[in-house]
Amino acid sequence: MAIIEAKRLTKIFGPDPKKAIPLLDKGWSKEKIHAETKLTVGVNQAEFAIEAGQIFVIMGLSGSGKSTLVRLINRLIEPTSGQILFNGTDVLRMNPEQLRQFRRKNVGMVFQKFALFPHRTVIQNIEYGLEVQGIDKKKRRDMAMQSLELVGLSGWENSYPEQLSGGMQQRVGLARGLANDPDVLLMDEAFSALDPLIRKDMQDELLVLQSKMKKTIVFITHDLNEALRIGDQIALMRDGSIVQIGTPDEILMQPANKYVERFVEDVDLSKVLTASHVMEKAETITIERGPRVALQFMRDRGVSSLYAVDKAMNLLGVITAEDASRALKEGLSLQEVLLQEAPIASPEALINELFEGMGSSKLPVAVVDGGNRLLGVVLKGAVLAALAGNTVFGAGDSA
Ligand SMILES: Nc1ncnc2c1ncn2[C@@H]1O[C@H](COP(=O)(O)OP(=O)(O)OP(=O)(O)O)[C@@H](O)[C@H]1O
Ligand SMILES: [Mg+2]
Repeated sequence: MAIIEAKRLTKIFGPDPKKAIPLLDKGWSKEKIHAETKLTVGVNQAEFAIEAGQIFVIMGLSGSGKSTLVRLINRLIEPTSGQILFNGTDVLRMNPEQLRQFRRKNVGMVFQKFALFPHRTVIQNIEYGLEVQGIDKKKRRDMAMQSLELVGLSGWENSYPEQLSGGMQQRVGLARGLANDPDVLLMDEAFSALDPLIRKDMQDELLVLQSKMKKTIVFITHDLNEALRIGDQIALMRDGSIVQIGTPDEILMQPANKYVERFVEDVDLSKVLTASHVMEKAETITIERGPRVALQFMRDRGVSSLYAVDKAMNLLGVITAEDASRALKEGLSLQEVLLQEAPIASPEALINELFEGMGSSKLPVAVVDGGNRLLGVVLKGAVLAALAGNTVFGAGDSA
């Protein structure tokens, strides 16, 4: 079951907001509704389901409704209509006490502006939320220290925010969001104010934290590369509506419409595409065969080398046509002419890394999983095409 689910979740800003609902039903745009009624569509009938443990990224241009959407989840902004479910419970039906509990125990929030208290030390900032909850001094200090350690700031507990760099301050914000060990962490542009290298470090750390702690994270960004790097699912918003939800691969390769297509057009593919995206089927031969069979296979398939594998598809090495001919002449087995220095890569290897590794070798790169099972092969041409933006897969349907 999804941990968070939204059904036709809608927020209209302005007086008498409900009068815009039938207009949305009629398909009126945000612009038209504003022109006719002066009401602003913040979020338009959003539907999504977030599985526990996912990083769900919400992206879109400024004003597209990201912050509004994330605040509807914990009712920091009260929805105009629709439903929001937490583990199947309707958040909109919670009474004030239940809602308070929900916000304290189940959700944490991290903002772009770290919103740290300047007159409080790092540790006092982190334990602020716990203090408000009335957790006793010793317990909250322990929880806060644990959280501090998680974000790699041990030793800084008695410093003041102004003594910390921006990146460190953001870690304090993150530690504060994690202090009550919430199920769900809502992060609104949490890394956007950081400079690029620190930002990348923080993304990596978030991924590590995520794999350790299995939190569900709703992460807002308007940076597509960031979304592609960390998202399990990405929801792309426009004018309050979600125009597509998909995995990073789906967003890149099957954009739902022209809008998404334009959005992803400028992505630096070399930093996003991996070996698994560009690999092709490898031509293989089991090692017990003889050189004559190997040569026959090569002729039939129009290739000049074969990957030698065992019956479980584990990669043993490469047989080139030259070596197979030599084996045939000299009465050797394939095992004896096997080349073992074939370049290999994992399916997650980025193609710009592949490209660097390819330089010297005439052989394609074999893609193997952690257990050395052969998954496919990457040819230089495919990497060059992908780097040039001529993706080898379809550009997707356009609406
Ligand atoms: N309190 C408010 N009163 C009126 N309109 C609002 C309010 N908050 C947001 N809006 C409007 O709702 C829409 C969505 O705003 P929102 O802040 O959610 O966008 P965003 O995607 O987070 O943008 P950004 O990337 O700039 O943070 C905008 O048109 C905005 O003007
Ligand atoms: Mg915002």
